[in-house]
Amino acid sequence: MNLFSSIFSSIRIPPTRKLKAGNIPLHIAIIMDGNGRWAQKRGLPRSAGHREGVKALRVVLRTCLELKVRYLTVYSFSSENWKRPTGEVNFLMDLFVESLSRYLGEMNKNGVRLRIIGDRDTIPGPTLKAFNNAEKITEKNERIFFNIALNYGSRQEILKSAKKLAGDLKDGNINPDDLDEKKFSNYLLTGDFPDPDLLIRTSGERRVSNFLLWQIAYTELYFTGTLWPDFGRNDLLKAVFDYQKRNRRFGKL
Ligand code: FPP
Repeated sequence: MNLFSSIFSSIRIPPTRKLKAGNIPLHIAIIMDGNGRWAQKRGLPRSAGHREGVKALRVVLRTCLELKVRYLTVYSFSSENWKRPTGEVNFLMDLFVESLSRYLGEMNKNGVRLRIIGDRDTIPGPTLKAFNNAEKITEKNERIFFNIALNYGSRQEILKSAKKLAGDLKDGNINPDDLDEKKFSNYLLTGDFPDPDLLIRTSGERRVSNFLLWQIAYTELYFTGTLWPDFGRNDLLKAVFDYQKRNRRFGKL
């Protein structure tokens, strides 16, 4: 264990009862990072790390249900991830389809409403079809809104929204004087979700990597050295416990 990881792991794990029920983040966003390194450490192919990553995501989703978190948004494939080797990209696209067919019933039963955010135009057909189907099946659920960022990049999202807005201004659908943050937010893919309260990034990296840039203006950031496949229930409780110690001022004194 190096100094970095020992600092992270020195934070103690709170029992659930220590969490303040009235201060659970409404919306948690997660950058699930470290699958490749998890596999590499074990001499396994990167694909094995992604497979374990799906299991970790299942545990985190269940824990969010338990804590009554209402929105969970995870970064599963960025607009930049197409630059990875074709084999890995194809593996991930197939893994999404496989994971949906394995867990959709369970998610639906638990009141999960699934949605993807990202550029749908360039998601491969079978993957998009599986997600469209999952969205349709879960559309009436409302226990938790589970957003999967897929082929997502925040700058691309903002640019596309700005273009759409420019079109609406040109067509006279909106008056420039009426434009405010709320109205602009509605052009984003996350239009009807509240902004994240807590953003977690695993694997020791401390970047936001083009994820929800507009939406995280006042979000509490939490970085952990734990690699995503190792991130479990206790790790999420620890992150929420840490969040509850923060003093959120939103620019006020
Ligand atoms: C980052 O680790 C992880 C990804 C790019 C993929 C995450 C995808 C999943 C966990 C599957 C999610 C499944 C569903 C159904 C949404 P990395 O490969 O960048 O790891 P490294 O930084 O160690 O190389």
